[in-house]
Amino acid sequence: MFWSKPAFSTADIPDMSGKTVLITGGNSGVGLESAVALAAKGAHVVISCRDEAKGTAAVAEIKARAGVADAKVEFGVMEQKDLASVHGFAQWFLAKGQRLDVLMLNAGFSGTSFSLADGVETQMLVNHLAPTYLAQLLLPKLKESAPSRMIFVSSKGHRLVKDQNVDWRSVFTRKYEETVSGVLSQYGYSKLGNIQMANRFARELGPNSGVFVNSLHPGVVATNIWYNKDNPYFGSLIYSAFLWVYGWTFITPAQGALTQLYLAAHPDVEKKRITGRYFVPTAVEEAPSPLATDTASQDSLWAVSNEVIKRILAEKGVRV
Ligand SMILES: NC(=O)c1ccc[n+]([C@@H]2O[C@H](COP(=O)([O-])OP(=O)(O)OC[C@H]3O[C@@H](n4cnc5c(N)ncnc54)[C@H](OP(=O)(O)O)[C@@H]3O)[C@@H](O)[C@H]2O)c1
Repeated sequence: MFWSKPAFSTADIPDMSGKTVLITGGNSGVGLESAVALAAKGAHVVISCRDEAKGTAAVAEIKARAGVADAKVEFGVMEQKDLASVHGFAQWFLAKGQRLDVLMLNAGFSGTSFSLADGVETQMLVNHLAPTYLAQLLLPKLKESAPSRMIFVSSKGHRLVKDQNVDWRSVFTRKYEETVSGVLSQYGYSKLGNIQMANRFARELGPNSGVFVNSLHPGVVATNIWYNKDNPYFGSLIYSAFLWVYGWTFITPAQGALTQLYLAAHPDVEKKRITGRYFVPTAVEEAPSPLATDTASQDSLWAVSNEVIKRILAEKGVRV
């Protein structure tokens, strides 16, 4: 993608003093850049990371780059392959008794060999089920802190889903081909899930709840997601050729963070009651695929997701 002057930049982020922002996967890529930009404007930033070492390093980097004396930045550990860990992270955050102004559901990955965790295909588990469950757990806090925002970082990859009658139950376990297109197609379902869930939350909350829920595609961004060595196709001729041909067109993580920063911080979101919408770079509203706005499909995904969440938590002995 060629980069022209964006309609929104970090200079447009208002003062965020007194606001608490929670960013999942805040140690890398567009999540890390979002954390730096919001901490620079005075927000209290809480990030999730997969382990203590990544969390400690990320907090130090965010504080150093934000350039704000006494920046308030902290991390909690959350592994999204494990809903018990998601539950524990939410409890840890809620126990602080602080407000929550922005929940940025950003963590995600693409492309590993096919695997199931707790009986669910891992891209669906990490990219869709974990953020949906975290959003459910933190929704009461967002309502209490309203006006507040929930943001699902999706992808234009959601358009890869061509099937007009998605059987969501089968998507949770379907064995895809371990080829570039096979892996990306399953990623597409998980990212379609992000938009559907954003729209489902927005529909349930309505325009007057004070909780604004939106989704976005950050752009094609040069982050670790493209260089995951667990990809079955990483290092293959076709993938190396793809990176060689297109890699130079990728935008930087700082550029890629702008659309989610707009949804996290721009006053228009509240002023214009922007909710249940989908944005692309830079901060431009776009219609997602028709399936993303299909309310019957959203309700089906919501129902199956809740059933699966309930089963996994019961199997793990998590009391909810
Ligand atoms: N880059 C793009 O071109 C692009 C395009 C469209 C959409 N997106 C979306 O943008 C979001 C951020 O990705 P990115 O490009 O910034 O990639 P990234 O640099 O790889 O960052 C992804 C973040 O998610 C975390 N994560 C991955 N698997 C996880 C798991 N099992 N449990 C908990 N956290 C996990 C990563 O943690 P670790 O550091 O520990 O792995 C990292 O913090 C994703 O939702 C992605 O789908 C990216």
